[in-house]
Amino acid sequence: MKFTSKLPLPSADALKHSQQLIAKIRTAIDDNNGSISFRNYMEMALYEQGLGYYVAGARKIGRAGDFITAPEISPLFSQCLANKCLSILSKSKGDILELGAGSGIMAVDLMLELEQASSLPTHYYILDLSPELKQRQRETIKKHAPHLLSYFTWLDKLPESFEGVILGNEVLDAMPVELFTIHKERVYQHQVIWHNKQLTEQLNPAPKYLNNIVSNLNIDCTHSPYTSEINLNLDGWLKAISKSLSKGLIILIDYGYTAREYYHPDRKKGTLICHYQHHVNEAPLLYPGLQDITANVNFTAVAESADKAGLQVLAYTTQAAFLAANHLEKFFIRALEESPDDQYKLAQHVRTLSLPSEMGERFKVITLGKGHSNDLDEASSQVDQRHRL
Ligand SMILES: C[S@@+](CC[C@H](N)C(=O)[O-])C[C@H]1O[C@@H](n2cnc3c(N)ncnc32)[C@H](O)[C@@H]1O
Repeated sequence: MKFTSKLPLPSADALKHSQQLIAKIRTAIDDNNGSISFRNYMEMALYEQGLGYYVAGARKIGRAGDFITAPEISPLFSQCLANKCLSILSKSKGDILELGAGSGIMAVDLMLELEQASSLPTHYYILDLSPELKQRQRETIKKHAPHLLSYFTWLDKLPESFEGVILGNEVLDAMPVELFTIHKERVYQHQVIWHNKQLTEQLNPAPKYLNNIVSNLNIDCTHSPYTSEINLNLDGWLKAISKSLSKGLIILIDYGYTAREYYHPDRKKGTLICHYQHHVNEAPLLYPGLQDITANVNFTAVAESADKAGLQVLAYTTQAAFLAANHLEKFFIRALEESPDDQYKLAQHVRTLSLPSEMGERFKVITLGKGHSNDLDEASSQVDQRHRL
């Protein structure tokens, strides 16, 4: 992954696609008296019907795409998650629901592991906002586990009443965020306007609701101007999930921090970044629809929204600790015995997933629940970090 200001040039077709989306964004700007919030812009850039980054045709996730996620790196990740699902579903019956399933590879590896343990759930539901990814998920399952295809059901909305385990890897970081800057004790909202024939960011005094929310964050702005972001979709999202979940657990894995770390005085440029063909950049208005825009997750805010939604926060830990508690070592040894020639590759996978300098500590796992006793491995030992939230 390279951090760069110089990006590879998109193809003519890709540019045309981006220009179509820009035309739609311009219409939204015109319809809204000349500006839209950055949050509206990000929503359109990622999810505008037929054109947004996640809903249009380009291959995004994986080595040939723009970024790579843990289940794409190694099946070991999904095998550990399967172990967690197994321990939960063996005590209380239920199904699995994956939110934002990407290429579908996590679903495949997880279900193959559950099959080996003779513990397949009746259903594996997938809910994704992206029609293109739904198609890709089906192809991945057909390719790697065709005999399991009948277990999968794609949903367009959350079920009325679900019992079991809900999983979401890197879903929270793909939600649109509000961008703000605090300068000389005043809060500004980042807006997007059309200026000099291009999309341009403009700072306007924040509307009252945003001003109040940001003021309540109590950020120490010693280093002013101070820019950061906030996910205002969290409350509604977790409320809807909680309403749908009659009994069970929600496991969300993502990169992020506690509120104290997120809004640390030194993090004065926030966490928003973009990925374009494995190049990281800080230009979210560039090539809308062609590049990923993402922000780190404030896990304290996730815990607070969960609490408001009537969910219990059962555990919070690092990815490294979660994987270790769910037998990463055992799965590694098994894979090594099955293919001794892959020793270097497998060891590299374990390092990438769990070293502090790689994904191990940057990624966190938060477990929320309803009607479930708190006997989770990560909660019962020293690896639980809920006190930090
Ligand atoms: C960064 S990708 C991660 C994909 C996959 N989980 C992985 O780890 O490779 C984010 C995914 O979340 C989906 N997504 C974003 N918001 C969502 C929501 N509110 N409900 C369901 N899926 C969502 C996107 O369509 C996309 O598939």
